[in-house]
Amino acid sequence: MKGGMATVMSRYMPTKVKAWLDKRVIGQEEAKKTLAVAVYNHMKRSVLRAQDKDTPVRKSNVILMGGTGCGKTYLVQCIAEYMKVPCYIQDCTKITASGYVGSDVEDCLAGLLRSCNYDVEKARHGIVVLDEIDKNAVRSAGPSITRDVSGECVQQSLLKIVEGDLVGVPPMGGRKHPEQPLIYIDTSDILFIATGAFVGMEDLVSRRLGVGGGKIGFGRAAAETQEADLLDSVTPQDLRDYGMIPEFVGRFPVIAHVDPLGKDALVRILTEPEGALVKEYRQLLEMDGVELRFGEGALDAIAERALAMGTGARGLRGVMESFMRDVMFEAPYARGSKSTGSRVVTVTKDMVEKKAGKSGKQAV
Ligand SMILES: Nc1ncnc2c1ncn2[C@@H]1O[C@H](COP(=O)(O)OP(=O)(O)O)[C@@H](O)[C@H]1O
Ligand SMILES: [Mg+2]
Repeated sequence: MKGGMATVMSRYMPTKVKAWLDKRVIGQEEAKKTLAVAVYNHMKRSVLRAQDKDTPVRKSNVILMGGTGCGKTYLVQCIAEYMKVPCYIQDCTKITASGYVGSDVEDCLAGLLRSCNYDVEKARHGIVVLDEIDKNAVRSAGPSITRDVSGECVQQSLLKIVEGDLVGVPPMGGRKHPEQPLIYIDTSDILFIATGAFVGMEDLVSRRLGVGGGKIGFGRAAAETQEADLLDSVTPQDLRDYGMIPEFVGRFPVIAHVDPLGKDALVRILTEPEGALVKEYRQLLEMDGVELRFGEGALDAIAERALAMGTGARGLRGVMESFMRDVMFEAPYARGSKSTGSRVVTVTKDMVEKKAGKSGKQAV
C-alpha cells in the first residue's frame, strides 16, 4: 500500500472515482456512487491495516446485480483501471467446492496472480469479480437439485477467502498439478465484487413490498423504472430469500445494482464515452481520409436493434459490424464531394435496418 492516509483520501475521493466512471460508463448513477464509496472505504481500511491499526472497519465487498450487458463487469474494470490494480473475473459457474470437476475456489486467486505476473504484492490489493454468483443460489423450488447443493458448497468455501485469510494458491490452478508449491496470499485487502443478473429478484422484492407482483424481466423498456426502483430496495434478507446463504450475504455489506439500458442510453453509449464504438469507427475511417456521418434516425435504429436483442449494450457491436463491414470495405474508394472536396460516408437509417435486420441477430 503506497502513500499514507492523505494520499489515499485525495486520490480515492468518491467524487473523483465517479468522475472517472462518468467518462466511461453511461447512466448507472447509483451503482457508480455506491461503488465509489465502497472503493474509498476499502482503501481507507487498507491504510489502517498497513499502519497496523486494529481496525473495526469492515470489508466493503460488493454485490452488484442487474441484467446482462448493462455495465456490471465494465464498471469494475474501469474502477480497477483507476486504482491501477489487477482485476480478475472468475466465472462462478465453473467453481466446484470439492475440486472434483471444474475448478476450486482458490482459482480466482490463481487467476488474479496470473493477471499480474505472480506479483503477490500487487495481487494482494487487486479486485476479484465473482461473476454469475447468483447461479450458486440455493433455490427451494426448481429442478436443479444438484447445483443447489454444490451452490451452497461454493458459497461456503468462498467465505474465508472473501473475508480475508491467508490462502495457499496452486499457481496453475486446481487439480492438475498436485505437486506444485503453493503461493500464499493474504486476501484481506482484496476487494471482492460479486455480480449476477439475479433474475426474479424484482418479483421477490415486489412480493415483499406487496406491490404489483407482475412478471418483470430485465431489459423490458416498459418496466424499466419500476424494475430499477425494486432493485433499489433489495435488502440482505432478500438476498437470503433468493438463496444466498446468510454467512455469504454477511460478508458483502454493499449492495448495488445496474439499471436496464433504454434506447437513449444505448445511443449515448454508441457516441459519448471514451472508446465509444462510433468514435472507434470514425478514427479508423479517418485514416482513409473519410469522414463518417450518421443520417437522421440512424443511431436510433442501431439502438433499437440492439434493444430488441435484450443483451443490453452488448448487442451494439454486432449491429454496428453488420453494416460497417460494407462501409469499411468501400470507404477507401469513397469519392470526395464536389463542393467541399471532403470525403464523407453517411450511414442511413435504411442501411442499418436492412443490414441489421438480416445479420444483427446472430452477431451478438
Ligand atoms: N452503462 C454503460 N456505459 C457504457 N458502456 C457500457 C455500459 N454497459 C455496458 N457497456 C458496454 O457493453 C459491454 C458489456 O457490458 P458488461 O459490463 O460486460 O455487461 P454485464 O453487466 O453483463 O457485466 C461493456 O464492455 C461496455 O463496452
Ligand atoms: Mg459481466
